[in-house]
Amino acid sequence: MSIEQDYRPGLEGVIASETSLSFLDVDAEEIVIRGYDLIELAEEVSYLDVVGLLLDGKLPSHLERQAIEKDLKENADIPEAVMTILKALPKETHAMDALRTGISALAGFDSELDDRSKEANRHKAIRLLAKVPAVVANSYHLKMGRPPVEPRKDLSYSANFIYMITGTEPSESEVQAFDQSLMVYSEHEMPNSTFAARVIASTQSDIYGALTGSVASLKGTLHGGANEAVMKMLLEAGTVDQIEPLIMKKLQNKERIMGFGHRVYMKKMDPRAQLMKQALLKLAEEKGRHDLYEMCEIGEDVMRREKGLYPNLDYYAAPVYYLLNIPIDLYTPVFLAARTVGISAHVIEQHENNRLFRPRIRYTGPRNLHP
Ligand code: ACO
Repeated sequence: MSIEQDYRPGLEGVIASETSLSFLDVDAEEIVIRGYDLIELAEEVSYLDVVGLLLDGKLPSHLERQAIEKDLKENADIPEAVMTILKALPKETHAMDALRTGISALAGFDSELDDRSKEANRHKAIRLLAKVPAVVANSYHLKMGRPPVEPRKDLSYSANFIYMITGTEPSESEVQAFDQSLMVYSEHEMPNSTFAARVIASTQSDIYGALTGSVASLKGTLHGGANEAVMKMLLEAGTVDQIEPLIMKKLQNKERIMGFGHRVYMKKMDPRAQLMKQALLKLAEEKGRHDLYEMCEIGEDVMRREKGLYPNLDYYAAPVYYLLNIPIDLYTPVFLAARTVGISAHVIEQHENNRLFRPRIRYTGPRNLHP
């Protein structure tokens, strides 16, 4: 077969790389993360354990986990100059654009920027994981004309992340739901944003550049941007009885319903969505918002009945973030913050075993024209 005949639009079904990080076993309904089932991890360990697993290849011991936590706390501050850049952005700047700018600006402050060794890349991954939550939260506060919030070093990674966004110390169950969401967002094989990072890293470009490219990819509503769109739809419906008519109207108008469908899962439930659905139920009951859970379930039933489509992670992560009082503008930035570890691990892997990405294209334009 000529390479032109072997064209797969959107690279659907194409194996673009090898990885020991993760694999979506759709038939077994399992997301494999370095040999572990992601859902089991999310039920049994915490986000920093998954960080250790992805960056170091094994679940950390208690001491190793403490060392990761200490490293993250020590690297959490953002250079004043980066805050000045964020402050100078127009108020209309999308939170993902502010995050992209912030990550890009941080690059210049990293003395190991152009060192592509595994060790230096790991240091940079930790610095990014430490600083991205502060960029997410503070770019938003600055946009709203509020002073930036300093990280609280007495709180856990996840508790501090919520605190920096909301200004309030979260309860234990809020931290648990958020930490689980970070785990299920942490790594997912080869989505568009990870592919973008690997393509960039394959030129021997640096991890900051690769992550900056990922932010741009993740912003789109066909990818990470869907979680914000889901919440806007749920709020537009407003009440349990309005969700079905709203979805039906959107479907009649041939609109896509955000939070449904997935290139890999296609006609199966995303296992991560199932876990977030349970987290939503727990939070909704605690906060007296069972109506929100009910609304989501009705939406799920309507989409299964009308389109044979199932929810993806974004569908249930969005209302969880809503109940955690996270502003809607920050849902996709939080997704990126959680995915920073997965993307970093992919960049490390790409640099360790590199082959430049340089595919071909099928030309459909004219030939033999002359000026
Ligand atoms: N709402 C309505 N119809 C849909 C949806 C949806 N959410 N998703 C797919 N379809 C329909 C398409 O219209 C198409 O129907 P047709 O064959 O009658 O034209 C069919 O299902 C196949 O759709 P494709 O776009 O070819 O499937 P693809 O694999 O490219 O799409 C995608 C995957 C982009 C995620 C799609 O399902 C979608 O747009 N979903 C909404 C956005 C979303 O939730 N994104 C988050 C992805 S998960 C994540 O990033 C964590």
